[in-house]
Amino acid sequence: MRAARAVAHTNIALIKYWGKRPGDPDQNLPAVGSLSLTLERLRSETTVRPGERDSFQLDGHSDPAAAAKVARHLDRVWRSANPGPRPPCAVDSTNHLPTAAGLASSASGFAALTLAAAAAFELDLDRGALSALARRGSGSAARSLWGGFVRLDRGERPDGADCRARPLFPADHWDLRLLVVHTAKGPKPIGSTDGMQRSADTSPYYPAWVATSEADLERGERALAARDLPALGAVMEHSCFKMHACMLATVPPLIYWNGTTLAAIHEVWAARRAGLEAYVTSDAGPHVKVLCRPDQAAELAARLAAVPGVHAVDTLAPGPDARVELLP
Ligand code: PMV
Repeated sequence: MRAARAVAHTNIALIKYWGKRPGDPDQNLPAVGSLSLTLERLRSETTVRPGERDSFQLDGHSDPAAAAKVARHLDRVWRSANPGPRPPCAVDSTNHLPTAAGLASSASGFAALTLAAAAAFELDLDRGALSALARRGSGSAARSLWGGFVRLDRGERPDGADCRARPLFPADHWDLRLLVVHTAKGPKPIGSTDGMQRSADTSPYYPAWVATSEADLERGERALAARDLPALGAVMEHSCFKMHACMLATVPPLIYWNGTTLAAIHEVWAARRAGLEAYVTSDAGPHVKVLCRPDQAAELAARLAAVPGVHAVDTLAPGPDARVELLP
């Protein structure tokens, strides 16, 4: 075993994933494909070294709940190539994400952990295989192995081998901006895995959500290829609001938004009526993400920062591939 350090950037789904398909829960198989944009700056940096025993530090602090998830994920990576017991690992991770903003770190976190662990265990895996492993930690993590525009296919196989992400276009394919509009502080109330299970079990809109996702993916990919922002924005908003409709119809309702979320969405639509090209999306949390042109980003950010209840607005360009290095 060696020591290795990996950096993976977070991503935001333009066409969303919500729900798992039946099968081995440890495979974490999504019910629908998804299409994402990897972001600059927002990233996890993770070092995996041989240790006396397993240990995990996040931003310099030990975190027992997260340590158990990390150990389970190290086991998955190790067992993908080795029958015997896994060597103990000292894992150190730093999240370069807006602190206490409740932005998910699972995408960049599990991608960086997968990449660092595979290098530390000296496994000869291609990025597709690494993506399938990252997916088992968190579905969105499968997409964070690459920069730019990435598609995660649903796949059909029970072992998940064909459920891996692939890069569609590199970061320089299209110079867009994504504004992250922070509308609350603190972590989200209901984790995505629990929320997805509740929606699948109780939301009458869940089957419609699953049935219509593939068409959105195709529309999204076509709009990306053509660099057609109104077309991409339209299908991105449709995917987001369908997912939230499915969440709202869950019993009891899953409402991840607050009043400021809705006010920010209305502000984006007002800006659009005023001639700006801006489109919203939002995940399992209260923040609003706005896709726009670089030359209109500053004006939009100023408008959104002025919405009462908005804490901060980050402006982010497309980000790079995840990377890894062996340490001495
Ligand atoms: O993979 P998870 O557990 O981070 O769930 C992701 C769910 C959404 O963020 C709502 C949608 C997505 O595709 O990222």
